Amino acid sequence: MSVLIKNGRVITATDDYFADVYIEGESVAQIGKNLAVDADEVIDATGRYLFPGGIDSHTHLDMPFGGTTSADDFESGTIAAAHGGTTTIVDFAIQTKGESTLKGLDTWHEKAAGKSTIDYGFHMIVTDMPVERLDEMNRLADEGVTSYKLFMAYPGVLYVDDGTLYRAFRRAGDNGTRICMHAENGIVIDEIIREAVEDGKVDPKYHALTRPTRMEAEGVYRAIAIAEVANVPLYIVHLSCSDALEEVKRARMRGVDVMAETCPQYLFFDQSIYEKENFEGAKYVMTPALREKWNQDVLWDGLKFGHIGNIATDHCPFCFKDQKQLGRGDFRKIPNGAPGVENRMSVMYHGAVVQKRLSLNRFVEITSTAAAKTFGMFPKKGTIAVGSDADIVVFNPDRREVISTKNEFTHHMRVDYSAYEGYEIQGWSEIVLSRGRVMVRDGSLETRGGGQFIKRAREGELLR
Ligand code: URP
Ligand code: ZN
Ligand code: ZN
Repeated sequence: MSVLIKNGRVITATDDYFADVYIEGESVAQIGKNLAVDADEVIDATGRYLFPGGIDSHTHLDMPFGGTTSADDFESGTIAAAHGGTTTIVDFAIQTKGESTLKGLDTWHEKAAGKSTIDYGFHMIVTDMPVERLDEMNRLADEGVTSYKLFMAYPGVLYVDDGTLYRAFRRAGDNGTRICMHAENGIVIDEIIREAVEDGKVDPKYHALTRPTRMEAEGVYRAIAIAEVANVPLYIVHLSCSDALEEVKRARMRGVDVMAETCPQYLFFDQSIYEKENFEGAKYVMTPALREKWNQDVLWDGLKFGHIGNIATDHCPFCFKDQKQLGRGDFRKIPNGAPGVENRMSVMYHGAVVQKRLSLNRFVEITSTAAAKTFGMFPKKGTIAVGSDADIVVFNPDRREVISTKNEFTHHMRVDYSAYEGYEIQGWSEIVLSRGRVMVRDGSLETRGGGQFIKRAREGELLR
């Protein structure tokens, strides 16, 4: 099968030019002006941008959490992602405490295999790591799982102590992989929560009020210090606030290999949303919590100047009707997480490019290229280049949509609300190709399934 995309404006993290792109099989075979080739299919991309397929390196599909399971599985979640211009995800497999991480990996392979419509990789959530099992981390890396997430939050669930952090960090530093860190001081936060609940403070807004930004900043500081001593590259997930970003900046200034991810929700929403009536604030209960509004400008500046290097969604949807309700009358029981995998490219394009905060190249970098480079998928993923996978979004920069569960063009996630309900965006993924196959065209799914597991490379290695 061959596809010729004609007259598009090719945007990568570094380039911006008009060209035809010729795809043979699964990869890009030629790029040039007026290519004289015959193709099985010709797509006219006049007036459209060609972006490398979006990469969302932080999703939680089919994840047991908070007494329930995230509402999207690998089938629905990856179809929704494809509709939104994302052609690769890196999801989080979980190790059951006391069991092998490799067993956790098998479980996630079973969840995804044959169901995923787009390509996927896994990080491994490490919930314990005694010395005698450290070699598992090498085996994971051999299996293409070259990053691990550890938690300072959620004591009694996913939390690990500093000794475990150090052990895992050391091994990751030795075996050429990367640590992803959920950095919040969960031990102190749990005390603050206890005090609040004793005072009868149980509404959703107390989720935010019991998680001070300083406790996120402390976690970031501590993770950086441990990573520095252990000599491992560090990636702070879902960084939400100025206080935490200050710690990242300080460390980068002294040459520590740390980068930060933020998520669209921290750029577009603030903690006042928790005041919504009828328990609707629960829709936005996620961790870290939404912050005071002024943090948003600081995060946008972080993206502009490079202190924040990547945008991922932390897509972790729970239905309002029967899952978020678990926490009515006790915010501690609201399953933490919100949907977003389908909306990331559009809301970021709108906020970054249409609203003139970031350049087109930087938009591509933070929605695709940086994740590919950071997580061992470049240059197979994350760019449009000869030899790269033909993961391409034909993007209409003028198309406007109002995001809504009722809008067939903006909502395919299996969750009964949209975090962005009523939000008007400009810029829409019109045709989405994954390894040369048209997945989505004008809002219709043309190809279902066929997503492949990506065996990711170690730090500094290229994936071809
Ligand atoms: O609220 C969130 N973020 N849920 C998913 C788990 C995590 O901490 O990433
Ligand atoms: Zn987290
Ligand atoms: Zn997460």
